[in-house]
Amino acid sequence: MKISISKAATETLSLDAAAFFVVGTDREKAVSNIASLIGVTATSIGSDFKAKEADLHLLYPQNGKFEPKRAVLLGLGEKPTLDSVRKAASAFAAKAREMKFGKIGVDLTAVETLAKHISESVDYVAQAVVEGVWYGAYDYDQLKTNRIEALKNSNGKKADEKKVELKELVLTTDADAASDVAEGAKVGDIIGSAQSMTRDLINSPSNYMTATDLANAAKASGKKYGYKVTVFGKKQLEELGMGGLLGVNAGSANPPTFSILEYKPTGKVKAKIAIVGKGVTFDTGGISLKPSENMGDMKADMSGAADVIGAVEAAARLKLPMHVIGIMPATDNKPSGTAQNPGDVLTTYSGITIEVDNTDAEGRLILADALTYAKEKFEPDAIIDLATLTGACVIALGNPTAGLFSNDDKLAELLFAAGLRSGEKVWRMPLWDDYDKQIKSDVADVKNTGGRGAGAITAAKFLEKFIGDHKSWAHLDIAGPAFPSMGGAQGKGSSGFGVRLLVEAMRRWN
Ligand code: BES
Ligand code: MN
Ligand code: ZN
Repeated sequence: MKISISKAATETLSLDAAAFFVVGTDREKAVSNIASLIGVTATSIGSDFKAKEADLHLLYPQNGKFEPKRAVLLGLGEKPTLDSVRKAASAFAAKAREMKFGKIGVDLTAVETLAKHISESVDYVAQAVVEGVWYGAYDYDQLKTNRIEALKNSNGKKADEKKVELKELVLTTDADAASDVAEGAKVGDIIGSAQSMTRDLINSPSNYMTATDLANAAKASGKKYGYKVTVFGKKQLEELGMGGLLGVNAGSANPPTFSILEYKPTGKVKAKIAIVGKGVTFDTGGISLKPSENMGDMKADMSGAADVIGAVEAAARLKLPMHVIGIMPATDNKPSGTAQNPGDVLTTYSGITIEVDNTDAEGRLILADALTYAKEKFEPDAIIDLATLTGACVIALGNPTAGLFSNDDKLAELLFAAGLRSGEKVWRMPLWDDYDKQIKSDVADVKNTGGRGAGAITAAKFLEKFIGDHKSWAHLDIAGPAFPSMGGAQGKGSSGFGVRLLVEAMRRWN
């Protein structure tokens, strides 16, 4: 998608559609201004368009001087935030995709007033617009061939229908704001495209996304954007003694991978951080087999790992002054004659032994090795892990919000604030030692399940054992927001939740 900034007035541009933001409290005046600009009467628009967050209303200009084919009113709600702007832009782009528009515009001539109204800077508003457009324009269509239609139409000889996609976004603005808008748009373009790449990885079905495919995706990104990627195969994992990852992989026909991504800025470095992501490319549950209903969603159980690639890629492209290490342990979780059994005991990279009470609590087994490795090998200033870890977290917080667990108040506050700004919200839950007794094992150092109560917390308490004495760790349970098929604002498929959150946290690191 090409993004350009135009200082010419919106009405002079040839576009499939031009959108205007409307704040709820300002609705009447804004609607009547736009109506007169495009030459239609405002009376009935006002009652149809409420300007609630992400409300969208299409109008057909009657004034020959207004060049765009359609004018679109985008509601921001009564108390807009940065995320209202993102959501409205996303709704516009989703409409553009549905209607097969090739070139759209967003009117940002009043961006300074809007930025002031929501207490944000102009560049961040422009960034949110571009992120939103990327988000709403996204569609996972790589595996659609149109062969059914083609075969029906002329003995299979007809060429496949050409894919129509959004090609260009124009942001119109006045001269004063132009450079800030351009700067924000550039950042939004990087973050938005990194998130779309991440969503592609997550939406790929498991036969297109094995542990090897995931490692290759990291290598491809590293090569394209100039950061280092190292991949360990099964033999190296055996030598290192990564018993957690190998235990989960035991039933699989596909070998595990363990990828290390490393972006190091050339200039000054603010901090060294490790981002660890769960890369279960398909979670059947293993011998503790899951029920078949909705099991297909478990292709997205590598969302945390995909977020790692997205975040490191964005950090490299934005040239952030942060040394970022990404770690992705990856495997599928399958039952077979060689699979691990409930009751088995694994020895992890740390030396800590685990009783595998349930083979479906596999994410924490592979993260155990990765967290210790991150701590010992790199001694980072902070470790953040992301994992679609527990159904219990979905019960607690639903789809809008990820669970946050941290031993560092400052890091927790940073992530909370980054969540609000990026629209990828997190809510902190406790890590009190009261929960430790639930994961005590009779035969090993720790057990991988904690019973019915507080499932998201006992999973976090389990992970905590593997960071040793590290003082700044945060665990994000993204099972709710990352997962597909929940519909709503995020539409079909994966949200790629985590990329915007991580980038915002890195940008505001102090
Ligand atoms: N990948 C799942 C968690 C999950 C569940 C993500 C639903 C998204 C939606 C994880 O590996 C898992 O199976 N967790 C178990 C743990 C239990 C066996 C202790 C769970 O949550 O049921
Ligand atoms: Mn599982
Ligand atoms: Zn899982």
